[in-house]
Amino acid sequence: MAQRVNARAPDSVTTLPKGKEPTLRVVPMPADANQTGDIFGGWIMSQVDLAGSIPALRAAQGRVATVAVNSFVFRQPVFVGDLVSFYAQVVKVGRTSITVDVEVYAQRRPDKELCVKVTEATLTYVAVDENRQPRVVSAQPG
Ligand SMILES: CC(C)(COP(=O)(O)OP(=O)(O)OC[C@H]1O[C@@H](n2cnc3c(N)ncnc32)[C@H](O)[C@@H]1OP(=O)(O)O)[C@@H](O)C(=O)NCCC(=O)NCCS
Repeated sequence: MAQRVNARAPDSVTTLPKGKEPTLRVVPMPADANQTGDIFGGWIMSQVDLAGSIPALRAAQGRVATVAVNSFVFRQPVFVGDLVSFYAQVVKVGRTSITVDVEVYAQRRPDKELCVKVTEATLTYVAVDENRQPRVVSAQPG
């Protein structure tokens, strides 16, 4: 049975991971919001897919395709104007697949330096050849 994560866990208010460079940083705009003004979950999912593909492409040394979103938890909402940072890390390299963890933080209210962990996800990419068929990868996580 899938593990359920408490989306409102107290560690949501935090700092950015120390000693790590974000894979991607972006500020969502009003066009990325839903009808109630918060950022649309689909926007976050697409950015997570993009961020995760960056270390996957590196590990695969070439083209990849997303084969699965293994888990995805929205812990806190994202607001227009937040500075959203995506930290993506390869956690497993299989024969043709690369699995990546992505953690997402939002920095809001620059006057108060408030940083919250908003999302965590795990995705699997497959290295593919020019015919979009799986190909073997040799890189190890690191
Ligand atoms: C990605 C794709 C080429 C893989 O082809 P396939 O014939 O399913 O490949 P395989 O069954 O050999 O699986 C390839 C690898 O993916 C892994 N995999 C397949 N389905 C998976 C799933 N649901 N979850 C996790 N891993 C999965 C396999 O375990 C295998 O890993 P390994 O070689 O490291 O052991 C094919 O499924 C595809 O083209 N999918 C669409 C991709 C796409 O368009 N993505 C964008 C979303 S619109």
